[in-house]
Amino acid sequence: MTNKISALILTDEFSTNEVLKLFLSEFENLELLEQTTDYNEIINKLSPNDKKFLFIVDLSTRKQDKLDLILQVSQQCKNCKTIALSDNPSVDLIIQIMRAGAREFVPVPIIKNELYEAINKTINQFEVPKVKNKCKIISVFSNKGGIGKTTLASNLALELSQITKENVALIDLNFQMGDITTFLDLKPSFNISYMLENIDKINETFLLSTLEKYKNSSLYVLADPPYFKQADNIQPKQISKLFNTLKDTFSYIIIDAEASFDGKNIAALDNSDMVLLVTVANLPALRNTQRCLELFERLGYDKDKVKIVVNRYMENDEIKEQDVEKVLSKPIFWKIPNNYFAIMSAINKGVPVSILNSSTNVAISYKNLAQHISDNLIRENMVKKFENILNNQ
Ligand SMILES: Nc1ncnc2c1ncn2[C@@H]1O[C@H](COP(=O)(O)OP(=O)(O)OP(=O)(O)O)[C@@H](O)[C@H]1O
Ligand SMILES: [Mg+2]
Repeated sequence: MTNKISALILTDEFSTNEVLKLFLSEFENLELLEQTTDYNEIINKLSPNDKKFLFIVDLSTRKQDKLDLILQVSQQCKNCKTIALSDNPSVDLIIQIMRAGAREFVPVPIIKNELYEAINKTINQFEVPKVKNKCKIISVFSNKGGIGKTTLASNLALELSQITKENVALIDLNFQMGDITTFLDLKPSFNISYMLENIDKINETFLLSTLEKYKNSSLYVLADPPYFKQADNIQPKQISKLFNTLKDTFSYIIIDAEASFDGKNIAALDNSDMVLLVTVANLPALRNTQRCLELFERLGYDKDKVKIVVNRYMENDEIKEQDVEKVLSKPIFWKIPNNYFAIMSAINKGVPVSILNSSTNVAISYKNLAQHISDNLIRENMVKKFENILNNQ
């Protein structure tokens, strides 16, 4: 591979084009490719494996077309990094751009220093082959059994892997009583206790070959140990160590926690960035949820870390949304509709409801929840990264 990086510009604005050509000409290790407006030709130009490419695309016009093109480039042109430009930046646009696969954003009119900073960061990404995302650990918890934790954890994990295309780990902490393998119809060769026995040998290759991959998705499952004896030996400290090890390989770790406050569950909750506290709109469940919230407060959890999810929600429930929020003194983060038939037929077939019937209200709710969580994460990162640009809008 030569050291020079081939840059290709796509903009409909004459002045932006001229400015870009001028600024880029000052970069010694960049050579400009002949421009074209034909998208197929762009893909062909950026595809060779023996060169590095930089694609600079201006979304001030024909925004959707160019978002589609960025996605195509990120999927097909393995040696190409994209910098997106726009004269109308917003958090939503930046999220769309990042989701399509661009890693840097520069507002138009272009300020030389901002462009150079973006180019330098992008060039550095060629040196570090894989930029690791910060991993988000999400526990699905309730101190009440049978409330819908496993259904939520497994569907959320699958949806997150499908939306983000990033590696997602789904961990079953219900030792001996875990349901995830049944819900997803998996027969894993290895389980969590095997992983813990080998924790010092673990690297990315080991993880991706040991965890059970769900069909051809980027979801990997770590099952509960089938024997009491294996589970007995597992210490809370090991759980924390396991998460630390998984963090480098996975963008999301979803934990199906057990309905108890034992050491390993507390270790999982402590290590989580977000706890989805599942409840239903009836009095006994809400009382339990109140107790959980009190305990989380005593454990010193940030209020924002714990999110209320109302499962089996029905518009005509006697206890209304506002009542739930009043009792718990906390806003509802998400509501999952009641659909016993759709959920039961999915569980009985060992297929997530989003695959069995993606048009049901529950499947749509899981998908939107995954989208909401991943958007929020990108939003948090983007807002930090582009604070100056966005504040000047
Ligand atoms: N949104 C929903 N609508 C209707 N029924 C649901 C919904 N979510 C879950 N259920 C039902 O609730 C039952 C229990 O769900 P699930 O096994 O996910 O709960 P859990 O909290 O993981 O239970 P456990 O504490 O035993 O692990 C399921 O068998 C399913 O029938
Ligand atoms: Mg369960």
